[in-house]
Amino acid sequence: MAPLNTAGSAPRITVIGTGYLGATHAVSMASLGFDVLGVDVDRSKIDALASGRVPFFEPGLPELLAETLATGRLRFTTDFDLAAEFGDVHFVCVGTPQQQGSHAADLRYVDAAFSALASRITRKSLLVGKSTVPVGTAERITALVRRLSPVGAELELAWNPEFLREGFAIEDTLRPDRLVFGVASAWAEERLRAVFAPILGRGTPLVVSDLRTAELVKVAANSFLATKISYINAMAEVCEAVGADVQDLATALGHGARIGGRFLKPGLGFGGGCLPKDIRAFRHRAEELGVGEAVAFLDEVDRINLRRRSRTVDLARELVGGDFAGVRVACLGAAFKPNSDDVRDAPALDVARMLYLEGASVVVYDPEANVNAHRAYPDLDYAPSLAEAASDADVVLLLTEWDEFREADPARLGALVRRRNVVDARHALDADRYLDAGWEYRALGRSHGAAVPLPLDREAVA
Ligand SMILES: NC(=O)c1ccc[n+]([C@@H]2O[C@H](COP(=O)([O-])OP(=O)(O)OC[C@H]3O[C@@H](n4cnc5c(N)ncnc54)[C@H](O)[C@@H]3O)[C@@H](O)[C@H]2O)c1
Repeated sequence: MAPLNTAGSAPRITVIGTGYLGATHAVSMASLGFDVLGVDVDRSKIDALASGRVPFFEPGLPELLAETLATGRLRFTTDFDLAAEFGDVHFVCVGTPQQQGSHAADLRYVDAAFSALASRITRKSLLVGKSTVPVGTAERITALVRRLSPVGAELELAWNPEFLREGFAIEDTLRPDRLVFGVASAWAEERLRAVFAPILGRGTPLVVSDLRTAELVKVAANSFLATKISYINAMAEVCEAVGADVQDLATALGHGARIGGRFLKPGLGFGGGCLPKDIRAFRHRAEELGVGEAVAFLDEVDRINLRRRSRTVDLARELVGGDFAGVRVACLGAAFKPNSDDVRDAPALDVARMLYLEGASVVVYDPEANVNAHRAYPDLDYAPSLAEAASDADVVLLLTEWDEFREADPARLGALVRRRNVVDARHALDADRYLDAGWEYRALGRSHGAAVPLPLDREAVA
């Protein structure tokens, strides 16, 4: 590795953990003109990034990686000695998955990353957590790193929660809705202001708070979003019971300025590497802190969300006559959302798995996530194209709303399948076009004119 550029007075940045969050952060910071060193324990990831290849799908990131590598300002390494020597401000972006057999967050990667750095740092530096963690983690880590570091209390900790969305990661990093600095001193705030100066200079709102509040902001935000999604999906359940249309309901609610239409989209619900595990970890942490009741509603939010998956399977079963034996199912989508290859807790793959367990012959196609999906669920069959997935299908399920699926021609798709049955689990298809092309169309929370007698009416008739 060539010597690192140590000239200039702007803080030099390290980014520890170069996954979806860290790689984006490292590249974005380099694009703003900082000298950045990306660090990971996964050598294959570091080798890929150093050679200009992004090891996951994120629109625009490969181009910005190539640009920033070419400037010489961005390097990657697995060497923590180098990181400790190089950085003035260290961002820790490692994973915080759900623990096996518990709803708590698994903090072992966070602890390992901070420990590895701290034991090597020999001058006053700022360590900044970006990973999503339970409230109180930063204070515990402050004590840990000061114990481990040769410079002791010269090491300071801050928390800077991240709100980026996969699929829009660069835009969200460079033009965030807001920045949150959780700090314990004016010096830490000043350092963070120096790092984010180009973004703050654009008028980005900034909230400076204590460490605990900053940790809470992230899980509170994700809990709110999850609740809004499960709220409209709960309304979908009611709509199904009475033959009402949740799409119209959501549109009408969304026009209300006090409610707003964003995240009020009914369908298969949320998944991915953040929302599900974050609301569970928050619930778990609140219970530990004696305020479990305050967020007990998150259990219901989780349950509503998971019920959408089994209800999607129900709709497919109804369409094929009540039994999946000998039935070929085309699952369109595996990623937890479009424009990502992330299959962590993906509703689409969960539905495919449930169909498989019920005896269906399942073929999955995702424009970007087939490889990750195959790694997670090798028992399912994967097709290299939409046409091959749909070929001879008895029912097609739209599970991730990629543009390729939205734009598919129902007549041409109809010529490929054995039976024209479609479940639009994301409300992403034009129902009328499918109906006109002779498809049986089902969507969660929509009856499409089917008469649904209300229980009270039945009693009245009897
Ligand atoms: N992905 C998102 O959209 C997103 C958005 C906001 C916040 N977050 C939060 O950011 C954190 C990271 O999420 P992610 O999606 O990037 O995860 P990820 O699994 O894609 O990346 C984590 C990376 O950390 C590396 N790592 C693990 N232990 C390490 C160590 N000791 N030292 C150095 N590297 C180590 C892993 O090899 C991996 O490359 C999580 O807390 C997540 O909740 C993620």
